Amino acid sequence: MKRFLVAIDGPAGAGKSTVARQVAERLGLTYVDTGAMYRALAWKALRDGVDMEDEEAVAHLAESITFTLEPNGIRVNGIPLKDEIRTPQVSELASAVATMPKVRKILVNKQQEIAASQSVVMDGRDIGTHVLPNADVKIFLTASIDERARRRYKELTAKGIPADLEALQEQIRRRDENDRNRAYAPLRQAEDAILVDTTNQSVQEVIEVILQHCRNKLGGE
Ligand code: DC
Repeated sequence: MKRFLVAIDGPAGAGKSTVARQVAERLGLTYVDTGAMYRALAWKALRDGVDMEDEEAVAHLAESITFTLEPNGIRVNGIPLKDEIRTPQVSELASAVATMPKVRKILVNKQQEIAASQSVVMDGRDIGTHVLPNADVKIFLTASIDERARRRYKELTAKGIPADLEALQEQIRRRDENDRNRAYAPLRQAEDAILVDTTNQSVQEVIEVILQHCRNKLGGE
């Protein structure tokens, strides 16, 4: 069967990974969380004491790392990573390394290699515009900043991690700015992407909408 490629992009906290993971599961496709690759790289750079201002050094590290994407996590050189790549510090650093063109080129290559041999649901910021410009279905997921901050707040407090709603709004606003305004491969909706606003929709509703687009595409070929 021909490969089937689904690209899901959007800003931080729009619900991409939850939705993308479940869409992949329902369709029996491999889920690829590209944000986890930027996060895992930032985590590894931090751990190895690599200078985060030094693009060459971070790119060299990116090249030398083996990423293994699994349905519920990522391994870096065989080490499984989960919550340690979700801390505010790693989030900020991931956003910073994601502005580096040399680093992006290396990670984009790795992402394209993964999708070259199998059907995937891939989520990120530049999947429909850059990584998989020929994806069969492109979705751009959004939600208001307030709603995204509320979701993050719930997520953190449910884990017993203290959180401040206003600080979260500010953090999300800053990351949005970083992701949208970087010079190279900024976050933007691909011309042929379908816009899905999740502000007033449940996760299940959003999943059904995306599945329907996928089925239409699969049925039409
Ligand atoms: O989706 P996320 O929050 O896990 O992503 C972490 C950071 O990586 C975020 O600042 C955006 C960046 N990123 C990117 O620039 N391109 C991607 N394809 C995925 C993530």
